[in-house]
Amino acid sequence: MIDLIKQRRSIRAFKTEIPPRALILECLEAASWAPNPTSQQPWQFIVLAGGPLQAVCHAIKENFKPAPGAQPEPISPATQNMLARRKQENFFRMLAFLKEHEYDMQSAADGNFTFHGAPVGIIFGVYPCKDQNYLKATVAAMQNFMLVASSRGLGTCWMNAVSICQEHIKRELALEEELILVDGIAVGYPDPDSPINAIPRDRLPIEAVVRWLDI
Ligand SMILES: Cc1cc2nc3c(=O)[nH]c(=O)nc-3n(C[C@H](O)[C@H](O)[C@H](O)COP(=O)(O)O)c2cc1C
Repeated sequence: MIDLIKQRRSIRAFKTEIPPRALILECLEAASWAPNPTSQQPWQFIVLAGGPLQAVCHAIKENFKPAPGAQPEPISPATQNMLARRKQENFFRMLAFLKEHEYDMQSAADGNFTFHGAPVGIIFGVYPCKDQNYLKATVAAMQNFMLVASSRGLGTCWMNAVSICQEHIKRELALEEELILVDGIAVGYPDPDSPINAIPRDRLPIEAVVRWLDI
């Protein structure tokens, strides 16, 4: 299990081949086994390929506005700085690696509006709930999906533009207004030759984010 968790990585370049429907369903079934409030399974998984996927990418490109840079109020300046520093370190490491491999930076950035060119995109929608518990459950489902997809040789990447542009996407796909689009996941077979799929990645030493209060 730990090997599988660590082996999953964000994939940002894909082959054109569309994964079989049965394989996608297998991953989605695993998604549906995520913990969720009183087993209400309040989610909807919207699988897109071809024209509908292109239409969503178009809606994103036309309407994307990045979220404001600063964090909302309760975050102290010290915490903001700490998080910003981590973001910057990761970003510079990624830039340096891609530059070294002569990778076109613009296409890397554009990928955020195009599901990174994946042949399939899945939107994870959920019905509203006052304490956001439905939303939390859907994030757990997304992780299940990505882990099983990775175990089956599929590549995935989380697509934040879906929630940012959700009003436009809902209109484009004629989805009900009440559905919250948590985010999307790009899905396909990884391009093994693309440097963007080999960006070095790491995590903080675990003790840096653990607080022991009982020992
Ligand atoms: C909420 C969230 C939003 C993300 N949005 C994007 C995105 O829009 N584009 C993208 O390429 N990766 C996106 N990612 C993937 C992260 O960049 C990635 O998980 C992180 O850099 C760690 O790399 P890894 O997934 O390879 O371990 C997102 C991840 C999360 C959890």
